[in-house]
Amino acid sequence: MADEIADPSRRTFLIGMCGAAALAGLGPVLLADDAAAATGIQRKKNGQVVVTVAKVPALRKANGRVMLGNVKGTPVAIVRTGAKTYEALNLRCTHQGVTVGADADGWLCPAHGSQFALDGELERGPALSNLATVRSRWNSRRGTLTVG
Ligand code: FES
Repeated sequence: MADEIADPSRRTFLIGMCGAAALAGLGPVLLADDAAAATGIQRKKNGQVVVTVAKVPALRKANGRVMLGNVKGTPVAIVRTGAKTYEALNLRCTHQGVTVGADADGWLCPAHGSQFALDGELERGPALSNLATVRSRWNSRRGTLTVG
């Protein structure tokens, strides 16, 4: 499986979201292509992304998050929701599909202002439902989360 790792240098992630998070004072919100995250995030040829959580500083504590960019055509972020629990979120707003950005407490849609908690739960519309999750598998032996 690890033999299929592709070059992670393709910049398919959301630079704007990183800038917005920085402006909001969130501290480092790592992206898949950041040098600091590159060793812990690998994109496979089949489009899946494998995250070695111990190697990604943003995921070392609860409520940490990291943007993965597009995973099989979907903008995705991983959120550490607990001691050893992670959620892979589809960052498309459930109202009309605009990609949400990071804000201080969660996610904000730039189109019409829907707000979501860090774990994707809807806090304010016009969206009517939570951010969707993306299929992910946790491998406790390796400490990896495979997304997509
Ligand atoms: S598309 Fe997000 S609030 Fe409308």
